[in-house]
Amino acid sequence: MNNLDLWREAAANIHWYDSPSEVLDAAKPPFYRWFPDGTTNACYNALDLHVEQGRGDQAALIYDSPVTDTKRQYTYAELLDEVARFAGVLAEQGVVKGDRVIVYMPMVPEALIAMLACARLGAVHSVVFGGFASNELAVRIDDAAPRVIVSATCGVEPARIVPYKPLLDAAIELAEHKPDACVILRRPMQDADLVSGRDLDWAHAMASAEPAPCTPVAANDPLYILYTSGTTGQPKGVVRDTGGSIVALKWSMKAVYNVEPGDVYWAASDVGWVVGHSYIVYGPLFNGNTTVIYEGKPVGTPDPGAFWRVISEYKVKVMFTAPTAFRAIKKEDPTGEYLKRYDLSCLQSLFLAGERCDPSTLEWAQQQLGVPVIDHWWQTETGWPICSNCLGIEELPIVPGSPARAVPGYDVQVLDENGEQVGAGDIGALVVKSPLPPGTFTTLWNAEDRYKSAYFNRYPGYYETGDAGYIDDDGYIFVMARTDDVINVAGHRLSTGAMEEVLAEHPDVAECAVVGVADAMKGQLPLGLVVVNSGVDRDVAEIAAECVQLVRDRIGPVAAFKLCAVVERLPKTRSGKILRGTMRNIADGEAWKMPATIDDPTILEEITEALRGLGYAS
Ligand code: COA
Ligand code: AMP
Repeated sequence: MNNLDLWREAAANIHWYDSPSEVLDAAKPPFYRWFPDGTTNACYNALDLHVEQGRGDQAALIYDSPVTDTKRQYTYAELLDEVARFAGVLAEQGVVKGDRVIVYMPMVPEALIAMLACARLGAVHSVVFGGFASNELAVRIDDAAPRVIVSATCGVEPARIVPYKPLLDAAIELAEHKPDACVILRRPMQDADLVSGRDLDWAHAMASAEPAPCTPVAANDPLYILYTSGTTGQPKGVVRDTGGSIVALKWSMKAVYNVEPGDVYWAASDVGWVVGHSYIVYGPLFNGNTTVIYEGKPVGTPDPGAFWRVISEYKVKVMFTAPTAFRAIKKEDPTGEYLKRYDLSCLQSLFLAGERCDPSTLEWAQQQLGVPVIDHWWQTETGWPICSNCLGIEELPIVPGSPARAVPGYDVQVLDENGEQVGAGDIGALVVKSPLPPGTFTTLWNAEDRYKSAYFNRYPGYYETGDAGYIDDDGYIFVMARTDDVINVAGHRLSTGAMEEVLAEHPDVAECAVVGVADAMKGQLPLGLVVVNSGVDRDVAEIAAECVQLVRDRIGPVAAFKLCAVVERLPKTRSGKILRGTMRNIADGEAWKMPATIDDPTILEEITEALRGLGYAS
């Protein structure tokens, strides 16, 4: 089927107040507009529609929180009631269509309720992952300029309570933009003082709230902004539109994941990431599935059987997580003893994404679960898979190391440095021919020029994914590495450039480099090497420890920045470019060649020593 017919047909499957007469407006590339004259509402499609169609008593949301020992379920009718009333709370604070609302919350149902309440009003939510520190939150507050911020008093990690409220207060203090109001979910594990005149207690506000109706919005009105790491400390505000998101996500639930309305679908991620937006909140609800909010980890909450318990307890049909979660389970339970305690006959397939899936993890998962384990490739920018074995269309043979073929709607190609297509099996830049399908990003918030320059200028007519890889003779795509400074730590996307910016702020640091080194569990870890200013005569271990703390304070614990050493000099080319790739290869113990352009080869011996000191380069 041709691309436009595919999306015309998929669009007929969602609720529109005004059906679009046109499928694609391609007048201003790369700003393509899908379904330009349609009007719709994402919350209506996620909730009201299902209640009207008789799904009101079905579970919409299961909340399972081993870290707080809580389990709770909401039917579609109950969730609609909560969302409509919270939309009323926001409306009372003056939130109207187009306003931004930041959601900074742990994995609790109220996070999803807040997101859908924004969508109900046509307001634009921007969820900030709880593992980010105040400074990162402040950057997002200044960029998104939210009218309201929704947060909680705390998050609960296995080993500690994370006090969100002080982080929020510090972020608002740091930011130039100030929200009109904050709505705070007070959790019993740790309360916090509310700021008079600014903060509202969630429960209190909900008790007297009037339900708000859905506001129709144009298909191209933004549904949300989600910030993601780029090459600098200024994150990219990925903007997703409303109509395209509903059409593409609903279509993908059947085509990619092969789930039917009524099935239980579980994405073990966090609402702060794109996986959470697309496959904890929107996709499953657009499709009438039951979704799961799991506040816990794959291991340690309480044991490596946690995922199997959830699957069997709620009859999960399709599960989605990052390979790192399976590596964590495999490490603690290599022979799958915990798995044998549960009946997993409900599970139809497991999908993995977020980082390259190493074949041994894939094979282990296949052996343990006995169901298809599907590696699929996508990005915050695309919002849904670029490449996958589409189980609802045709199940392809699984080739370990490859996320299979391009999903319908994506024309994936590999280009060389000159923009020419390379032959089968040859590595190059992975690109997607424009236009990207519906549901992908339509621009970057407040940064239209960056949208063009970061993604569309290098290869005119193509979207540059930032990944390198190749396509084999059978059309299977292999995603090998990023072409920029982005690294993947436990499935979380982080910018080494942003970490370098933080390290450079340390008063004793003259220059620095952060590279992503291999880690058996998390895939990659950031490792920093710093050179101190001449004349600084302090204990270098102390300086390195301060650097570690600085990144934790400025970016957050999620950066997992724990490897840092002070070195005399950094290896550079004669033109002054730091040889990060060479340092990474040395750290990982990979074969490497002395760069022809290196300024002083003897530096590499010192670097190797420093890396050994951190447990690398062996
Ligand atoms: N709020 C506050 N802090 C958070 C947080 C949150 N929502 N999420 C994580 N953190 C903290 C952790 O407590 C940890 O802090 P620490 O340095 O004090 O230990 C740090 O951030 C790193 O967290 P994480 O990456 O989760 O590492 P971990 O060692 O706690 O757990 C895994 C490792 C593999 C078990 C975990 O990363 C995981 O379950 N990954 C699943 C994959 C996933 O969710 N991917 C998302 C995209 S699909
Ligand atoms: P994020 O935007 O956080 O989803 O991260 C996107 C990046 O994660 C991609 O650009 C890839 O580098 C990597 N990634 C995601 N899924 C895969 C996969 N299945 N195989 C290889 N890399 C992946």
